[in-house]
Amino acid sequence: MNVALHNNKPREQWASRTGFILAAMGSAVGLGNIWRFSYVAGESGGGAFLLIYLLCILIIGIPIIMAEFTIGRRSQQDVVGSFESLSSGGAWRYAGLLGVTAAFMILSFYAVISGWIMHYFIQYLNGSFWTAPAEGYEGYFVSFTGSFTQSILWHFLFMALVIIIVMLGVKKGIELSNKILMPLLGVLLIVLAGYSLTLGGAAEGLSFLFTPDWSAFSDPAVYLAAMGQAFFSLSLGMGTMITYGSYLSKKEQLPGAAFSVAGLDTGFAILAGVMIFPAVFAFGIDPSSGPGLVFMVLPDIFNNIAAGGIVGLGFFFLLAAAALSSAISILEVAVAFFMRKFDWSRIRAALVIGTIIFLIGIPSSLGFGPWAGVTIIGDNGILDSIDFIASNILLPLGGLIIALFVGWSWKTVDALRESDFGQTTIGYIWLFILRFIAPIAILLIFLSSIGLF
Ligand code: PHE
Repeated sequence: MNVALHNNKPREQWASRTGFILAAMGSAVGLGNIWRFSYVAGESGGGAFLLIYLLCILIIGIPIIMAEFTIGRRSQQDVVGSFESLSSGGAWRYAGLLGVTAAFMILSFYAVISGWIMHYFIQYLNGSFWTAPAEGYEGYFVSFTGSFTQSILWHFLFMALVIIIVMLGVKKGIELSNKILMPLLGVLLIVLAGYSLTLGGAAEGLSFLFTPDWSAFSDPAVYLAAMGQAFFSLSLGMGTMITYGSYLSKKEQLPGAAFSVAGLDTGFAILAGVMIFPAVFAFGIDPSSGPGLVFMVLPDIFNNIAAGGIVGLGFFFLLAAAALSSAISILEVAVAFFMRKFDWSRIRAALVIGTIIFLIGIPSSLGFGPWAGVTIIGDNGILDSIDFIASNILLPLGGLIIALFVGWSWKTVDALRESDFGQTTIGYIWLFILRFIAPIAILLIFLSSIGLF
């Protein structure tokens, strides 16, 4: 058996190759594909955003997933440990710390939204959402998220679940929860997208999503948003895929895994778009409604279909499960680091870090209630601002460093061998992208968004 040793303790490993791919997919597929994709695409004008997003996946995302898997499997360590052990000291380790910081920030608001999803699931479970509430679904959303005690309760429950699963460890907790639920979510999404197309808003919705508004291409904010979304959705730039790769043995083939994760994740996002936007137009909702978009649109869809209550129940259950598997992967980044660095047990690390992240998330939750109207970046509220800094800045910055690290500080032969590409054309293309294309693209998008280019 292939057991890597650290501090004389055998390190955990995935039970199987499918287990690893499913876990990486479970990390990638989450609220990012449905909740965040639709709200950011809606705010960024649709088609042009989608096109730039797809380009970012292709020329930045996939090569960086490969880089993260490669780093993780090679070092068999958490994100900070990976940079420390694979470089001879130096500044690379700060990339690891950046990743851990991003993990704290992202999970803090991710858990707030996931809590809402859980609440919506319960509303379907007890039947309250089977008919529209008196104030309408939109009104309900505003009053529910505005109530501090409600929002915080669900936020807490969700975080508690995440902590418990991470405490159970790699195999039992993370791997198992991904195996059954993900394929189910995919099937339901296909069915709902098909249904949404019959709603009457199909032409408008599809043209919003697939016909680029060419003027949007000159808006640097759209590029930044699309790049941030690509990183967020693929769980990239903060070491999630490094950490998951570190539980892999040397027997696995990385490129296939990277392509499947990216392909599946992108497929989920596009399907979610096809589900949401026709309905957005059919129900006369503003596509740029922000983080509440899916919470206002989806229940309206379910209310209109036969057996919609059951469909809503299934949908929010599966979405909550997808959110859970992503949240687990975020907490795992920080937990793996604290376990090694301070020699904490898994249980202690999960409890302490999870609690801190819960507390950091409270202001994001308050931003929809008592602290509504507080804006931090532009006219973004607290949650959107934390999301903006973490997803649009820290993740791409982390990705930039990861690309440079493998591209420039590793020997070519090592990088090709460790990635399983070997000396193939595609391997050399991969390295070329990591060395030049991805870093330059990320830098250009950064510079243009601060008006320097
Ligand atoms: N990719 C996850 C999603 O789409 C979120 C995530 C971001 C997970 C960053 C890990 C790291 O929901």
